Amino acid sequence: MLTEVLEVFALPRLRSFVDCTLGAAGPSSAIIEAHRELELFVGLDVDPLALDKSRARIEALLSDGSRDELRAYTHVRNFKYIKAVLDGIDENLLSEGVDGIFLDLGLSSMQVDHAERGFSILGDGPLDMRMDPKGTLKAKDIINSWPETEVGRILRDYGEESNWRFLQEKIVNARNGGGLHTTGELSDLVRKASARSGGRQGWIKTATRVFQALRIAVNDELQTLENAIYACFDCLSSGGRLAVISFHSLEDRIVKKTFLELIEVGEGQEDKDDFTLYKNDKFVTEEQSWSKQIVVGRNGVIFTKRPITPCEDEERTSRRCRSAKLRVIQKH
Ligand SMILES: C[S@@+](CC[C@H](N)C(=O)[O-])C[C@H]1O[C@@H](n2cnc3c(N)ncnc32)[C@H](O)[C@@H]1O
Repeated sequence: MLTEVLEVFALPRLRSFVDCTLGAAGPSSAIIEAHRELELFVGLDVDPLALDKSRARIEALLSDGSRDELRAYTHVRNFKYIKAVLDGIDENLLSEGVDGIFLDLGLSSMQVDHAERGFSILGDGPLDMRMDPKGTLKAKDIINSWPETEVGRILRDYGEESNWRFLQEKIVNARNGGGLHTTGELSDLVRKASARSGGRQGWIKTATRVFQALRIAVNDELQTLENAIYACFDCLSSGGRLAVISFHSLEDRIVKKTFLELIEVGEGQEDKDDFTLYKNDKFVTEEQSWSKQIVVGRNGVIFTKRPITPCEDEERTSRRCRSAKLRVIQKH
């Protein structure tokens, strides 16, 4: 959804930009190239391996000396600490605010493709699933040591898995034989437990939900996301924008709900459903065709009452992209 992200941040002047999920720095490189006026770039990723690559990519972009006015920083840091990071860079930054903040949630292909990180259903690696290699909780701790009811709760609430009771029982029973220690063993258990629902697609879908549930728990993803959205909104300048791409309904629900809480829609401040009426008004310019319905509140405006989703072409070429939802908020 690079085109859409570039459109969202096509502000008249984007002087400062924070990419909270730098990954391989795809969108960040495009933003840096598109905005010659950019004075400050900050990239964060909780995964040091991702950051090594993206740091080199950004340095290469700036190496020709034509962007001397741009200060660029990359930090290995969880995005929930965005305020501390910005404060550490420049003590005036929090009061001035930044013009653009971007979160592209989930895993990078680098993380999924390295079986030893423990995220891959089809590869075989340790049951790890930490995005931050310094984190203390691994998936194997949940699988082999957490109370049975907690294992069930995670499968039900974070995996939205209808067969959670049966899987919970199978996982806990496996402890009698020494427990599960690899992603291959967990996938095998899910495949056998899903034999009744039949077919490769059946068990892979179940395994996707089980792996998602564990990953969310290991990295405390949902609470982190909610806290981070509040922190990011605080860090915006007046007129600054926060854009979040989520990949499953649990994340999207949090983004949608938190945005609404942040802007504080009061009585008489109705949704501006008919976008055409508001073209060229204070909030929506002619170029903003990506924003179909807006919601205006006391503190800001939501440009995506309905989220932006990938175009058909993109859905066809990228499986991961199919479930992507982009939501955008702007601070008054
Ligand atoms: C989908 S990838 C980003 C891909 C990137 N936009 C690109 O195109 O190259 C998500 C990245 O966010 C990072 N990440 C996930 N949760 C994070 C958190 N709480 N704090 C910082 N980084 C996080 C992951 O390590 C991963 O590298």
